[in-house]
Amino acid sequence: MSGRFAELVDAARTARTRSYSPYSHFAVGAALLGVSGRIHAGTNVENASFGLSICAERAALCRAVAEGERAFTAIAVVTGEARPTPPCGACRQVLQEFAPGLTVVLAGAGDQVEEWTLADLLPRAFTTFDGAGTPPGGGEE
Ligand code: THU
Repeated sequence: MSGRFAELVDAARTARTRSYSPYSHFAVGAALLGVSGRIHAGTNVENASFGLSICAERAALCRAVAEGERAFTAIAVVTGEARPTPPCGACRQVLQEFAPGLTVVLAGAGDQVEEWTLADLLPRAFTTFDGAGTPPGGGEE
């Protein structure tokens, strides 16, 4: 594909090929673009105890944080569906912690690409307890 997020979508598509999803057979790849310019990819990893499965988006986020990156500009999410699939609610909330201004790029099996903002997908998000509105992802331990 072409476009400004082509490399990010490619990274998510590659990560998707590594999905461990023997139960749902729903393979997902995600790639986060950090403010450093680095790309951090993840895929969904399922478990026989289904509830322990982790989504591709959260896998990518955990990997990025472990690699020292905590601020992101975009995420690409790739599935094998005809129509691009948005992140689940849990992933939206976890992404919000670190990247409230995130662009969410969705791709499926074809060439169709959708661009959303995380704020579109998670309006009036829960952030801090006192309502200060500053997610701790950026600076705190
Ligand atoms: N999945 C993701 O990886 N990301 C999402 O946002 C939604 C769902 C995974 C979890 C599970 O392995 C499979 O897709 C079916 O729900």
